[in-house]
Amino acid sequence: MGTDKDTKINLFHTYKSKQEILIRRCTLDDLDGVIDVNERELPEDYPYFFYKSILDDYPESFLVAQNKNGKIVAYIMWRVEKTPSFNGLKYENKGHLVSIAVSEEYRREGIAFELLSNSMSAIIKYKIRSYVLEVRVSNYSAIKLYEKFNFKTKGIKKNYYRDGENAYFMVREAK
Ligand SMILES: CC(C)(COP(=O)(O)OP(=O)(O)OC[C@H]1O[C@@H](n2cnc3c(N)ncnc32)[C@H](O)[C@@H]1OP(=O)(O)O)[C@@H](O)C(=O)NCCC(=O)NCCS
Repeated sequence: MGTDKDTKINLFHTYKSKQEILIRRCTLDDLDGVIDVNERELPEDYPYFFYKSILDDYPESFLVAQNKNGKIVAYIMWRVEKTPSFNGLKYENKGHLVSIAVSEEYRREGIAFELLSNSMSAIIKYKIRSYVLEVRVSNYSAIKLYEKFNFKTKGIKKNYYRDGENAYFMVREAK
């Protein structure tokens, strides 16, 4: 696992409250903080080994945001999926957004924007053809965020979530 210096990606001041936030790669020591943000901010949660396997397999695009006290206030994680190409003759890689969440008190400050832009450029390394994600049809702020990054809705996945809510399937070509 790298040191903070190795994994530091961006130090910035939030748009409104001008707090110092460090964006860096996640390390094993951060997983408890990541899980804490996930459990407070999203109904979808995962067992520890799931986070650990994403960190082991795709460390470049598993990023955290920490405040000046070192507390994890947001994270993003992706995985790469190999799927048949349109004509079915070969396989292509897709970057699949697994999860993103920002602690409520840190929202609308540009943190998700920083996490998405830095992780999308990192996951290109896996030679992906596109970025894909699912989002609850009711999740207005997340949909707006993805539209800002030029994701387009390509379909609806019925009953995608455990509580029965539908998901938009959104896609952006990787260039
Ligand atoms: C969605 C979420 C990650 C956005 O995080 P954030 O740090 O507040 O987002 P940012 O401040 O970086 O905003 C970036 C863009 O997202 C969009 N956006 C974010 N919050 C929004 C809101 N409440 N209303 C409308 N647009 C919003 C805007 O386009 C915004 O750009 P702008 O500030 O220039 O208008 C955050 O609300 C969150 O963690 N929600 C709970 C978890 C979740 O729903 N995750 C997504 C699951 S698919």
